[in-house]
Amino acid sequence: MTGAMGGGATGPGGAAAPGGPPARERIGVIGAGYVGLVTGVCLASMGHEVTLRDIDAVKVAALNDGQTPIYEPGLVDIMAEHAERLTYTLSLERMLDRSDIIFIAVDTPPTYSGDADLSRVMGVVDELERVGADARHILVMKSTVPVGTGERVRAELDARGLGEVGYCSNPEFLKEGAAIADFLRPDRVVIGCFEAVHGDRVAALYTPLAAPIVRTTVPTAEMVKYASNAFLATKISFINEIANVCEEVGADVAVVADGMGRDARIGSAFLRAGIGFGGSCFPKDVSALKQLAGNSGYHFQLLTSVIEVNELQKRRVIGKLKKHLGTLEGRRVALLGLAFKPETDDMREASSLVLAARLLAEGAEVCAFDPVVDTSTERLKGVTMASSAEEAIAGADAAVLVTEWASIVGIDWAAARDTMRSAVIIDGRNALDPLEMTRLGYTFEGIGRIPAHVGVPA
Ligand code: UGA
Repeated sequence: MTGAMGGGATGPGGAAAPGGPPARERIGVIGAGYVGLVTGVCLASMGHEVTLRDIDAVKVAALNDGQTPIYEPGLVDIMAEHAERLTYTLSLERMLDRSDIIFIAVDTPPTYSGDADLSRVMGVVDELERVGADARHILVMKSTVPVGTGERVRAELDARGLGEVGYCSNPEFLKEGAAIADFLRPDRVVIGCFEAVHGDRVAALYTPLAAPIVRTTVPTAEMVKYASNAFLATKISFINEIANVCEEVGADVAVVADGMGRDARIGSAFLRAGIGFGGSCFPKDVSALKQLAGNSGYHFQLLTSVIEVNELQKRRVIGKLKKHLGTLEGRRVALLGLAFKPETDDMREASSLVLAARLLAEGAEVCAFDPVVDTSTERLKGVTMASSAEEAIAGADAAVLVTEWASIVGIDWAAARDTMRSAVIIDGRNALDPLEMTRLGYTFEGIGRIPAHVGVPA
């Protein structure tokens, strides 16, 4: 459990004494979604008074009951531990009244054109005008917004008589499933501002974390976020293409990635080949950056390929299944894991959705299991839900490991094999040992990992 950090108090809103502990600030958060909630709860753990405002009455009621609307390891505990400094409300007036530094953490979903939808961000500006924010307030943009949004918001604030309200960009770099540790132990904190005094105040919040703080302009801070996500997505699509070539030429991508990653210039992170990246961030942000470039007259060729490789990667599983089963018509295929990655209940842009739809279109019978996601969703229409991985596998002609949940990877594969109609496994996350699975009698394929190409010659 992550404990409180910093938290020395000089009273709400007070300035820190020189050389003394950091000031305890009155923090507001607009949007108690994934980012807003983690930000608010972590800032409360650091000693600040936090008021989170959301427009969803059910969510606010649940939070007031000590429940979180999202699955994030450790969040409920840290929320309970610092409950006396956390207030949840539906009222923007109440939040404004109780806060000086206000984080905006509303969602920015993609539009049909691939641009980011800023209507919720702009809605916040409307509300702030109505309720009357003032010179006391500094807005801090946490939502991922296209480069230029801060300048647009600044102009809107000025035009509506809110010129005294401060504005900073402070992009988030949280990974779902590890968000609390990412917040409290960041690799870096990026702060863009129009006026140094506002940036200083926001930077002071992070001083106790002892992380490098990158201070810059608002557009540059906005670009750091997009460029970081786009680069990580590029690494994944790159290693996925290497994996596809490995299958053709008889190499093992896991060892290739290990060998590459040990070069400090390359780094080992985000070189796990698989059936593509998903989630609420990479697909949306890569496409928004490509669109942003396109809108300003630059064709971002590399990102076009990153997106295309990712789409094709999900579908290659169908080809692998056909290679082993022939037609998929009437075949029973188990999908093991549905979330876009382990330790989250998020299914946004999950590879499982594309796979399930393709399998159903091929006439297959699809039986799925995930330990956490809400399986009542419309998006899984036509898919039968099992209550365990073993139940999904029983009677299947093939199983696809889609999300590498430890509880799925760790099942008794020897026992599971005997329950299958034909023991074909496609490991979409390279989480299983190809040689061990072959020894157990499976027809096994990973991504860029075919058993015949794996291991060290005797
Ligand atoms: C990502 C970034 O990692 C965060 O830094 C960023 O703050 C966040 O987006 C955001 O913009 O809000 P997240 O989407 O939670 O975080 O998940 P990741 O752990 O980055 O995984 C993204 C996808 O890439 C998953 O589908 C995962 O399975 C896949 N992946 C990741 C790979 O296929 N291979 C890898 O080596 C790593």
